[in-house]
Amino acid sequence: MIRGIILDLDGVICDTAGFHYLAWKRLAADYGYTLIEGDNEALKGVSRTDSLKFILGKANTQLSEDDFKIDLQRKNEWYLEYVKQMDETHLLPGVTKFFRIAKYKGIPLALGSASRNAALVLSKVGLLSAFDAIVDANQVVNGKPHPETFLKAAEMLNMAAHECIVFEDSISGIQAAKTAEMFSIGVGNPSELEWADEFVSSLGEYDFHHFE
Ligand code: BG6
Ligand code: MG
Repeated sequence: MIRGIILDLDGVICDTAGFHYLAWKRLAADYGYTLIEGDNEALKGVSRTDSLKFILGKANTQLSEDDFKIDLQRKNEWYLEYVKQMDETHLLPGVTKFFRIAKYKGIPLALGSASRNAALVLSKVGLLSAFDAIVDANQVVNGKPHPETFLKAAEMLNMAAHECIVFEDSISGIQAAKTAEMFSIGVGNPSELEWADEFVSSLGEYDFHHFE
């Protein structure tokens, strides 16, 4: 029986995927590489460190350990410039309704995000107190596609993995849910998320009758 819901943040709850993309694109330009939309799909759900490794690979560039750390910070500062300006208008379609129905039905909710900025972003959009458990990149050793984020979220909800469903917009996140043996719902473009068990175009489209 399904009892709990685990939600990814960037691209599922908030319109932040574009901000990550713009900040990475700016950094990639420094290496003479033009980040393209296809790269963006591959980077969704991927940790900050692994994203920079991916971009350096594409740009055929190497950095010293110190410069690698500096560029991670530069990207994050640019990203935070966008986050600073965020408010409820950056919630994706139907998110407010989704949280209202989940609360009404008493369904426990957990966040399972790859971002180290998750708490800040949630506070900007007014959803920090909407979760029963929050797992982000600060609490796990292995990022997505490793299942640790979602397994920890289930544990914090006091539930077994198979009692939780996961909403994800990234290929790496759907893989993580699969490996955790959780039912996965792809949010966004089905052609990008062919491994998901079910699809919705946004959280607002989710039919809670399916949950029951
Ligand atoms: C994920 C995003 O949620 O978090 C990725 O989909 C991002 O694009 C990753 O790189 C890490 O985010 P942050 O905020 O820790 O740099
Ligand atoms: Mg995401």
